Amino acid sequence: MVATGGEVASFGGAACQTRPMTRVVDSSEWNALVAHYDEVKDRHLREFFSNDPQRGEDLTATAGDLFLDYSKHRLTGATIGLLADVARRAGVEELRDAMFRGDPINVTEHRSVLHIALRAPRDAEIVVDGVNVVAEVHGVLDRMAAFSERVRSGEWTGHTGKRIDAIVNIGIGGSDLGPRMATTALAAFSDRSMRYRFVSNIDGSDFREATQDLDPETTLFIVASKTFTTLETMTNAGSAREWSLAKLRDDAAVARHFVAVSTNADEVTKFGIDPDNMFGFWDWVGGRYSFDSAIGLSLMLAIGADQFGDMLAGFHAMDEHFRTAPIESNLPMLMGLIGVWYGNCFGAETLAVLPYSQYLAHLPAYLQQLDMESNGKSVTREGEPVGMQTGPIVWGQAGTNGQHAYYQLIHQGTKLIPADFICVARAAQPLGDHQDLLVANLLAQPEALAFGKTREEVIADGVETDQVEARVFAGNHPSSTILMPELTPHTFGQLIALYEHKVFTQGAIWNINSFDQWGVELGKQLAQRIVPELDSDAELTHDSSTNALIRRYRQLRDRRD
Ligand code: F6P
Repeated sequence: MVATGGEVASFGGAACQTRPMTRVVDSSEWNALVAHYDEVKDRHLREFFSNDPQRGEDLTATAGDLFLDYSKHRLTGATIGLLADVARRAGVEELRDAMFRGDPINVTEHRSVLHIALRAPRDAEIVVDGVNVVAEVHGVLDRMAAFSERVRSGEWTGHTGKRIDAIVNIGIGGSDLGPRMATTALAAFSDRSMRYRFVSNIDGSDFREATQDLDPETTLFIVASKTFTTLETMTNAGSAREWSLAKLRDDAAVARHFVAVSTNADEVTKFGIDPDNMFGFWDWVGGRYSFDSAIGLSLMLAIGADQFGDMLAGFHAMDEHFRTAPIESNLPMLMGLIGVWYGNCFGAETLAVLPYSQYLAHLPAYLQQLDMESNGKSVTREGEPVGMQTGPIVWGQAGTNGQHAYYQLIHQGTKLIPADFICVARAAQPLGDHQDLLVANLLAQPEALAFGKTREEVIADGVETDQVEARVFAGNHPSSTILMPELTPHTFGQLIALYEHKVFTQGAIWNINSFDQWGVELGKQLAQRIVPELDSDAELTHDSSTNALIRRYRQLRDRRD
């Protein structure tokens, strides 16, 4: 059923509650927000701050160890109230509660969305189809912990009896980006006697470079794939088996050097991996929400089960905040609503994520999948055109590096680019005055972006008249600053859950399904059609551009100069 205006629409199957409307853009709450936007859109952050000396203290919120300063946004307290009304009208809280209950809110795949169960405490209960999934989660976590302990202690050896000293995770998308990002983020907590490598690309150079200095006798491969059918992963896994057996020369070695993480036991067995060495998860875990499941086995091997548990507790703390805090002080909801404000009112198209922590270098890439695969949608849950801009383009890299590359465009270009600055107060690796210099840079950027530098200030610097305009900074560029005391497994879990629930909030407002990804399928199908055509003289039936490129590729590949 498709509802309009204030009608009632079902959103997750018979077991679900109902939501107030399908397109929030049609609501009186949205109209009120747009009217307010017309009033504030031309106001400058300089004015907001000079009118209200308390602003920097007031427009802030805290959840657990995370502090959010959203005062450098082009909004007022009234804006937050109006955005919260929009969230209420869109039924964000109802959809959140439906997710926590295990209702099948992934409507196109008829699945529950229960990554929150992956970090629920052992004594919690979430029942799906009559099964307490929390008990299953802890069953797998216990098996992962036992396995990790055996590998870390040296009890689990390779086929020739040598200790494992290299872990290679083979996966792609959610089966790569999460564990890769987290293993880097928590490297300071890892067992340094092992090396951790990640192979994702079907480009053979990825596998070659990742393994070129490794020894098959001491290397353990984790084949991580929810479906266990993904072309890249299965191709790389096949090459890994060949690479191992070329030295070990015994099929029985596969059982000591390969483990699998998947929901597909049949395919794992067909590949030749002992089902005892398979760690399962469930169809209610989306790939991009999965590194706190068995997909994080490489991370657990690196940091150990106890610290992995600390990370899960951090995730859970943010889950509880998201589940219980009022919208106006709910960190993920605030960040989601501020994103809606810029995307749907100001027309901003991107979000820069700028962690000032080298350990968080892979966070922007991870968030690209989390956000863009979740909210890159253009129809509502009922299949109607969504009628407004949805998810942002997410990009960024660790500071301070970006300052010497693309910040110029944020400061003085023509685009409005909201940014998230992430600050870790205490360095994991103290080194001279590096940390203060790092944080001084972090603090300077949001200030410069917000307040800029006026003509008068430039002239007061004694700049020659014809040089003034190029040196003026308009300012009024918005940003959030997220401050955390230190980067530990616990604070890291909170940070990731914050972004997961921010993405959820925005998807709920747009009434899109954040938990499917049909948009990646067409390219995969076309690639399968092209593979045999690359090798043959078969008649090509694509468009003229694709046909010509295929012919040119065949010539270049086969040419021997
Ligand atoms: O192609 C997209 C995708 O399905 C992602 O959603 C997923 O994270 C990735 O591929 C890998 O899938 P799998 O874990 O099944 O190999």
